[in-house]
Amino acid sequence: MTQQAIFITGAASGIGRATALQFHHRGWFVGATDVNPEALNQLKAELSGNCFTQVLDVTRKEDFDQVMSDFAVASGGRLDILFNNAGIAVAGFLDEVPFEKIVQTVNVNLLGVINGIHAGLALLKATPNALCFSTSSSAASFGTPGMAIYGATKVAVKGLTEALSVELARFDARAADVSPGIIDTPLWQVSERYVRGEQRTIANIPEKNRERSDAGRTLSADTVAACVWEAYNGDKLHWYVPPEVVERDRAKALDPEKLRDELIAQQKR
Ligand SMILES: NC(=O)c1ccc[n+]([C@@H]2O[C@H](COP(=O)([O-])OP(=O)(O)OC[C@H]3O[C@@H](n4cnc5c(N)ncnc54)[C@H](O)[C@@H]3O)[C@@H](O)[C@H]2O)c1
Repeated sequence: MTQQAIFITGAASGIGRATALQFHHRGWFVGATDVNPEALNQLKAELSGNCFTQVLDVTRKEDFDQVMSDFAVASGGRLDILFNNAGIAVAGFLDEVPFEKIVQTVNVNLLGVINGIHAGLALLKATPNALCFSTSSSAASFGTPGMAIYGATKVAVKGLTEALSVELARFDARAADVSPGIIDTPLWQVSERYVRGEQRTIANIPEKNRERSDAGRTLSADTVAACVWEAYNGDKLHWYVPPEVVERDRAKALDPEKLRDELIAQQKR
């Protein structure tokens, strides 16, 4: 097959869904997978045939291997972009978040990405100029108080990208990631925040940040999807949406203790 192919996890909602639709529009063959069958069916109806859709829980490695091998048949053995995007968020101080939520977050956000990379490696190696692309977060710029585990999984994603960007060069393949800031997706509605044993919502975050003009402003899922395209055609390792998200990375690199102390002071207010 000469048609270029992208495989997306967490494709039925938010950033994954916007990316599936944008690449479909560009004439790519789209492999869309998600743990949510109803939302995936809805996307399938919009992709008008030129696609592969399959229910997939990224935490299940054997299922991932099977789905990737079925995708390979459908795409003619091509995998131009592997987009490890599925993720969940849990908020609350570490001592207040139920341990099972911590494990679930690590399993989806980190093990799920490792599973995807391992399952997709053979196809990435076989496809010239292929890109292994993963969704990190602005929460990876400095360990995020109130989202310690989520932030830790996203730091790990960047570490994986950096190592793979060197390892994959042996096969003419590449690795990169994106750190979105506040993106208006259903993630905020489905995420839980734990405060002193009570479960609360963080659904209002995109609305609360809509009028901001700094790195914390709310952007659309389409903006991140456009970045996936830019990353495929570019050479950068870490992408940031909006670009100002990089500023905290730089502040941390220059003076981590200053940033820590500022955050402690903010917390006391
Ligand atoms: N929305 C934001 O502000 C924001 C900011 C930074 C990073 N991110 C990251 O972007 C990625 C996409 O998030 P989104 O905002 O589009 O969220 P979303 O909730 O709209 O979409 C996430 C999708 O992942 C799927 N999913 C969840 N668990 C899964 C599993 N075990 N296996 C397969 N699929 C699973 C969900 O069903 C959903 O369709 C995530 O990795 C998230 O951490 C989001």
